[in-house]
Amino acid sequence: MTPISGVAPTVVAREGMPRMPFIEWNEKLTIGHAQIDSQHQQLVRMVNELHDAMAAGKGRDLLKPLLDRLVQYTRTHFAAEESFMQQSRYPDYAEHKGQHETLTRQVVELKQQFDAGSKHLSIDVMNFLRRWLQDHIMNSDRKVAQHIAAAAK
Ligand SMILES: [Fe+2]
Ligand SMILES: [Fe+2]
Repeated sequence: MTPISGVAPTVVAREGMPRMPFIEWNEKLTIGHAQIDSQHQQLVRMVNELHDAMAAGKGRDLLKPLLDRLVQYTRTHFAAEESFMQQSRYPDYAEHKGQHETLTRQVVELKQQFDAGSKHLSIDVMNFLRRWLQDHIMNSDRKVAQHIAAAAK
């Protein structure tokens, strides 16, 4: 069989199939601090949107603003979380802030590579972003929420 054209096959979502979000919000991601949880939900929504746009084969002009917004909101969220940590005199503030810096650097680097055209959004990139977000929430942010809750007692 001769290929009809040089166009790569597109993955089409099957109709009628219940569509699972790329990152599903669940109790493992809920850390028990209302404001932080709602910001995390917003980040999850943004990564999901980026994933869905990527999976639907959207072009760079549509993906770019989604990635830009994710980078921007990441900065907003980290700043908010850092101020909660300071207010509650979180003992591991410096270490946690260091993690935020690394995470920010990673996502900014991704954005720069995407903008320069040297990186495409792929499922590997999306899997990286899912880990990037989930691991930090489940391992580090959870400790902040526990500290804030204990300090309020
Ligand atoms: Fe954090
Ligand atoms: Fe966070």
